[in-house]
Order: sequence, then structure tokens, then C-alpha cells
Amino acid sequence: MTLPPDPDLRPPPGTPGATAGALGRVLHLRAAGVSLVVQLHTTSTPTVLHWGADLGDLSEAALADLALSGRTARANNDLDEPQPVRLLPEQAWGWNGRPGLSGHRAGTAWSTRFAPTAALVEEGDGGGRLVLDAADAEAGLALTLELELLPSGLLRHRATLTNTGAAEYEVADLAPALPVPPVATKVLDLAGRWAKERVPQRRPLTVGAHVRENRRGRTGPDAPLVLAVGTQGFGFRTGEVWATHTAFSGNHRSSVEKLSSGTTTLAAGELLLPGEVRLASGEGYRTPWVFGAWSDEGLDGIAARFHRHLRARPHHPPRPRPVVVNTWEAVYFDLDLERLLDLARAAAQVGAERYVLDDGWFRHRRSDDAGLGDWYVDEGIWPQGLHPLVDGVRALGLEFGLWVEPEMVNPDSDLVRAHPDWVLRTGGRTPLPSRQQQVLDLGNPDAYAHVLARLDAILTEYEIAYLKWDHNRDLLEAGSGPSGRAGVHAQTLAVYRLLDELRARHPGVEIESCSSGGLRVDLEILEHTDRVWGSDCLDPLERQQIQRWTTQLVPPELIGSHVGASPSHTTHRSSDLSFRAGTALFASFGVETDLTRMDPAEREELARWVALYKEVRELLHTGTLVRADDHDPSFLVHGTVAPDGGDGLFAVVQLGTPDTSVPGRVRLPGLSPQAEYEVSAQAPGDVPAVRGGKDLPWLASGVRMNGRTLAAVGVAAPALQPQQLVLLRTRRL
Ligand code: DGJ
Repeated sequence: MTLPPDPDLRPPPGTPGATAGALGRVLHLRAAGVSLVVQLHTTSTPTVLHWGADLGDLSEAALADLALSGRTARANNDLDEPQPVRLLPEQAWGWNGRPGLSGHRAGTAWSTRFAPTAALVEEGDGGGRLVLDAADAEAGLALTLELELLPSGLLRHRATLTNTGAAEYEVADLAPALPVPPVATKVLDLAGRWAKERVPQRRPLTVGAHVRENRRGRTGPDAPLVLAVGTQGFGFRTGEVWATHTAFSGNHRSSVEKLSSGTTTLAAGELLLPGEVRLASGEGYRTPWVFGAWSDEGLDGIAARFHRHLRARPHHPPRPRPVVVNTWEAVYFDLDLERLLDLARAAAQVGAERYVLDDGWFRHRRSDDAGLGDWYVDEGIWPQGLHPLVDGVRALGLEFGLWVEPEMVNPDSDLVRAHPDWVLRTGGRTPLPSRQQQVLDLGNPDAYAHVLARLDAILTEYEIAYLKWDHNRDLLEAGSGPSGRAGVHAQTLAVYRLLDELRARHPGVEIESCSSGGLRVDLEILEHTDRVWGSDCLDPLERQQIQRWTTQLVPPELIGSHVGASPSHTTHRSSDLSFRAGTALFASFGVETDLTRMDPAEREELARWVALYKEVRELLHTGTLVRADDHDPSFLVHGTVAPDGGDGLFAVVQLGTPDTSVPGRVRLPGLSPQAEYEVSAQAPGDVPAVRGGKDLPWLASGVRMNGRTLAAVGVAAPALQPQQLVLLRTRRL
């Protein structure tokens, strides 16, 4: 596994602000209200002295004193010379927690002491970066650590380990660590399951390690998403928080570890399976990027940094996010050209802009038992190919999108019958089936080339604007090739390559990352795709929570959310259209129900929601996310405020039955404190409020208040029934 040359690893010679030979310095990087102070030791990997609030301009002398002031007293029964934790924690420097590197060469070189050989620092107005080369000649290893402070105020780091010895070196784990100060006493991360992804869990931070391991071979419904530590009682709007995210879609591990000394570190990286990374002489292994976010404005401050970062990606969708109509919950596998065209006409009528043909269009795919891998248009259903449908949809003015699941195969497919060895497996047995499917071994160059060629052919033949790229099972016993060696690492990188190669060949095509709903949501998949599917659960009651927590990392414009049927197909819970549409509104909006059978009055109401989405999508997709800290779990308030504070849209959402008969005031935070706003109900999301609002005079007349008052005092909430919401618009006067 030799690493390809990485043009990103070193700034070209002559880059402004780049300084080599920075060893021995205390480096101070600043961006977006964050300071990162790093001491570059001459004998070990660096120490992060401060990651948090902006410290302003500090002189060399002040930085030296900052370093000195952190030196701790000698403790009884401890090292003669106290040692700070290094970016790559090592036993050689007294670290008795989880080591930054675990590995060995036939039982030797298991403990390292890396000494820097070169350091390169780039400093600019919006952050900067450090690239540190280090070596342990005794162990026969070289290490490169990259640490960056990005313009968003996020930091990210990764490590590259190279085997400079003669014999093979096996890497078990490589994860640099970031220290957090003792004021962080609480932990929050996310768990969840299929159709209920990203459920928060909180615990006190105690001595020991809180470790989240993922061995699913995909990001998973229960990935921590962010593993955050913070001050007592930190919430959406308040508290100091440090969070980490592993940008990787395969196995990964995140942990927060507090030693009995009190030192606490956040560490994260790829979780390597036994023998998965064995480096021959000269070969290297690079970790995924691990992100760190700090804020003293609670979880919303953390979310704002991630959103800013994602919105600054060069490939961030520049166009307004179109209204999608997806066929899955409308017709499932019951594909019929006339029916699909009727659906397209109904979609155009309500104002949809993109039509996505979901699962079932390819050979042998009459159900989810067969066909995956046979990426040829099924001649039985489509004697003229997809052309009549694609042309019909496009003639209606809609873009055409298509579902694929390229990483998967059904044993009942022509592909597996012809190439039974193209399936990930080990130990001479086929992994237990899941959704009747197995995983194509993309580490096999022939399998990779085949699936690339098939997708390329389809994208070449049809005017396809969008691929919904699905992935519907965990990877079990995912051994690659004849040896059956653990292959999740190679598989994950191959998927990224495949996505990139298709995007390079078909630059206009957008790709959605779907995985049994919302099971592949991470920052690295978003480097290769344009939207994530939030969840297979369209029930708005569940979706309110799923979206509330998915937006902790991903901005709303990148999260697909569709108006489904009532009752919901996953929970069988019924809900008003206004609750379903008002929930999908705060995302990348779509519809996924049989519009041809919808009551005409309801279809008209839906068209009004589509029109509202088109009116407010720029606000929602460029604005700042606001999640109020709610005192009553039966309701929640969230919204978006325009970057200039001039406009805001909030949803007051009644989830369940409140304990009190009269709803109190709800606070609307996040607006410009001094600015004066007109607050009014936003149609068509005002309907429940009108129904229950005869006693709410301010809503009928509108009210004028400044941003500070709206945040600190708020307005009387309308009396809503469970599963109703009302939209409030705040316009600056
Ligand atoms: C799982 C996805 O999450 C659904 O939206 C749908 O595309 C099905 N797969 C199709 O098999």
C-alpha cells in the first residue's frame, strides 16, 4: 500500500508565510475566534498548549510564558520530570493512556519515540498549518503530522506513518490526540439506529475512556457524529464545547480519555482490523482527517463552524437546492412507464424540479431479492430503455435522477454467477446475508473496473443530473481477494475513488450519499458527494429530532428530507401535511409519496409549501442554524437567521402533550441584538396557529421587538396540538 504522491502535503516552495525549521517555537494560529497554540519541541512531537478562545495578538515572550505557565508540579510517585501530553502520545514520554500509535514489527518496534526532523509552518490571517516530520530510527519508522487551523475556526489533523525499516511493520492504530482543559466535565455524542439515526446521549466525564467503535464498514446510524466535551450544562446556545469528528466512512474509533492525573484527550481515527495495514519497507499509511471544533456558544457554535467549512468546499452546490420527487415510497418496485409519467406530471404540477427514479429499474430487480450488480436497464420493463421516462420527465422541465447501489451485489445476479470471487469474504465462507445482499470487492481491480464502466455507460447514455448512491448493508467478515485479508480500509478508499472518477467523467452530475437511509453521513463522504439522505424515516415527529442532530455537523441544504405519506410507512403514525412539509422545509426539500393519489386540496396545499420552500431556500441554505434550549421536552424551537441578521425563519414545534395548559413564551435567539424585527406567522405554516390562535393577539397583529428582547424574553407561543408546528418569520424593519 504505497501512498500516492500528495500535492497537498507540502506547500510549494516559496509559499507566502511558510517557514521551515520552526522547531523550538511556540506557534500561535488564529481564525474565526479560535486560537491554537502549539509548542514545537525539538525532541518529541508537539504539545497543544491551548485550543479554544482567541487570545489576541501575543508576543514571542508572552507565548513562551504561556508555555512555561503550563508546566505542572511534580506529583508523588510519578515521573521525575513531569511531561505534557504530546500530539502523538507515547509511552516514551511518560504517557500511560491510550498510545497514539500501536503497531509492531514481528513483536519489536512496539514502543516509539519520534523525534522531529523538520517542521514547516504556514501562518495566515485565517489560520494556518503545521507539517511536522519526525522519525524513530531505532524503530525504523517515519511520521508526518499535519495540523491545520481552517478559516472556519475548525482544526483538523492527520498522520502519515512510513515504514523505513527493512521488514514489514503492522499498524494496529494511529490516532493523534488533542488535550482539553479540566473545565470540560460533560460528554455528549450521538448513537441511534436505522430510521432513528443520531440520538444524543450525555454522561459525566469521569476517569477512564469513553470509546465509540464502529465496525460496520460504513459510517453507521450510531456513529458519534461529533464526540463533544463541555462545561457543566452546555447546551445548544451556551457553554464551552470541544468536539471531534472523524472524516471517514469505514470503521472508525473516537474516544475521550481522562487519566487519573486529570489530563483529558480527545482522540479519533480509523479503526483498523487485524492485519489490515501491514507496511512493507517504504510503504506508508495515512489516517483520515480528524476535525476538532471549539466554541463558547454551545453546540450551535460548533455546528456553525462545520457548516461554514462545508459551505466553503469548492464543490459545494452553487445552485438552489431543487425540489425533489422520489419514486420509492410512491411506487416501490411497481415500476410502470405510464404510472411513472403520471407521477412526473403530478410532480411538475406541485412545482418539483428534480425527479428521481429509485430502486427497481435494472435487470432482475423485481424485489430486493435479486439483481444488484446487473447495472443494465431491464429490457422487460423498459423495451426502449429509460429514454421514454427520461425524455418525458425532462420535457416537463424536471431534471432526472437515478438510484444505484454500486458497492453491492445479490447472489442472485448475473454478475455473481459469472464472478463469485468478486464478493468480500474470508475464511472460505460467504458472510451472513443482509437484505439478501453481499458486498462487491472493490479492492479487486476487475470488479472495480466493471462497476465503473457500467455506471459510466449509464451516465453517458442518459441525461442524468443526479445519482442517489445507496449502500444497504454493514460489512461483515469483509475480506478482500483470494487471501481474504481484512479489506474495509481498501474498500472505503476505493469507494471514494470510484465517486471521484465518475464525477470527473460527468462533472455536472450530483450524487447523494444514502445508506439504508442516513447511515453514511460524515465529512469525508461529503468531499465526494453533494447531499446525504437524512433517514428512511419520513415520519415528521422522528425527523424533527433526526434533523436537529444531523445539523450538528451538516448544514440543512445537504440533508435530504421528503414529505411522505400519512400514515408514515415506517412508523404508521399519522400527521398533518403542514407538520410533514414544515419539517422537510428546513432541509433539502422533497416529496416521496404517490402524488397521483393525493387529495386535490392536499396537493394544492403541498404546492403552497413548495412555493414557500423556493422563497426561503436561500435564507435556509446560507443562514445560521439556531436551536433554542428548550425547557419542556414536549416542544422545540429551531430556525435559521440570515448571515446579515436581516431575516429569520423559526419553527415552533409541538412534539407531544405539554405538561402545562398555557404555553409560556418561546425565545427566538440568534437575531441581531440591536435590530428591530417584525415577527409574524409565516403562511402556509400559520394554519395551526390560526386554529388555536384566537387567544393570541400578537400573532394576528404581528409584533415588533428587537433581537435582544426576542432572545431574552421571546413571545407567547401559540397553543398547538401534539404534532403541529407553526412558522414564525422575523423580518428586520
Ligand atoms: C434504502 C434507501 O434509504 C431508500 O430510500 C430506498 O432507496 C431503498 N434503499 C431502495 O432499495
